[in-house]
Amino acid sequence: MNGCFVTGTDTEIGKTRVSAALLHWLGKQGLRCAGYKPVAAGTETIDGETVNEDVRALRDASSVALTDAEVGPCQFAAACAPHIAAALERRAIEPDVLLQGASTLAARAEYLVVEGVGGFCVPFAPDFDSADFAAALGLPVVLVVGLRLGCINHALLSAEAIRARGLRLAGWVANTVDTAMPHRDANLATLRDELERRHQSPCLGVVPRLASPDPAAVAACLDDAALRALFDLC
Ligand SMILES: Nc1ncnc2c1ncn2[C@@H]1O[C@H](COP(=O)(O)OP(=O)(O)O)[C@@H](O)[C@H]1O
Ligand SMILES: [Mg+2]
Repeated sequence: MNGCFVTGTDTEIGKTRVSAALLHWLGKQGLRCAGYKPVAAGTETIDGETVNEDVRALRDASSVALTDAEVGPCQFAAACAPHIAAALERRAIEPDVLLQGASTLAARAEYLVVEGVGGFCVPFAPDFDSADFAAALGLPVVLVVGLRLGCINHALLSAEAIRARGLRLAGWVANTVDTAMPHRDANLATLRDELERRHQSPCLGVVPRLASPDPAAVAACLDDAALRALFDLC
C-alpha cells in the first residue's frame, strides 16, 4: 500500500483540506489516487442524500471514481467523538471493516490518502483506537499542525505518539487557523527545528488562511520536492 495517513494536532485544523490537496497533487502527477475516511462523524442531508462533508471532499479530490460508501465505510449521524456517535446508533466500529475498506481502495488506486479523525489517538472501541488503525495500515504519517497558541506542544506530543506506534512522521504541514497568532514566524521556526531535530520530519508547506481553500489552492502552498520525497517519486 502506497500513500500516507493524514493526522492533525486537533479537529477542525485542516486535515481534510490538506488531504484533498494531496489527492489533487497526486492526480496532477497522472497517478491514480483515492481518498479514504475510515470513520466519519457528522452527516447532513443534501438533496435527500445523507452526506458527510469530509467523505465528499476526499471523493471529489480523488482521481479514481469512487462512491461515498467506498471512501467512508463507517459514517455516523452525530458530529461528536466517533465512539459516542456509534453508541448513539447502537453500532460498533469494526477494525476489519476499516482495514478491508483500505485494501479494496488500494487495489484500485496507486496511492491512498487516508484522513484520520480528530487528533492522532481517538477511541473507536474499548481496545481499538485511531492510532491502532494507523499502525495497522503502516503508511507514513503527515501531521497537519493548526497554527495557534499551543500548537508546538500539540505537534510534539502527536509526533511522539506517532513514533511510539512504530510509524514514521514523514512530514508536516502548517495550516493557518488563527490569523492573529502572536509570534507566528517564531512558532513556525520552532516547529521546523524541533520536528526536524527530534523526528527528521520536513515541513511540506505552510498554508495561509485562504479565501477559498479548494484542493488546487492548498496544493499550491505545498512543496513539490517535499511531496515527491513523501510519495517516493524522486
Ligand atoms: N487554510 C485555510 N484557509 C481557509 N479555510 C480553511 C483553511 N484550512 C481549513 N479551513 C476551513 O476550516 C474548517 C476546518 O478544516 P478541515 O480541513 O475540515 O479540518 P479537519 O479535517 O482537521 O477537521 C473548514 O471549514 C475548512 O474549509
Ligand atoms: Mg476532516
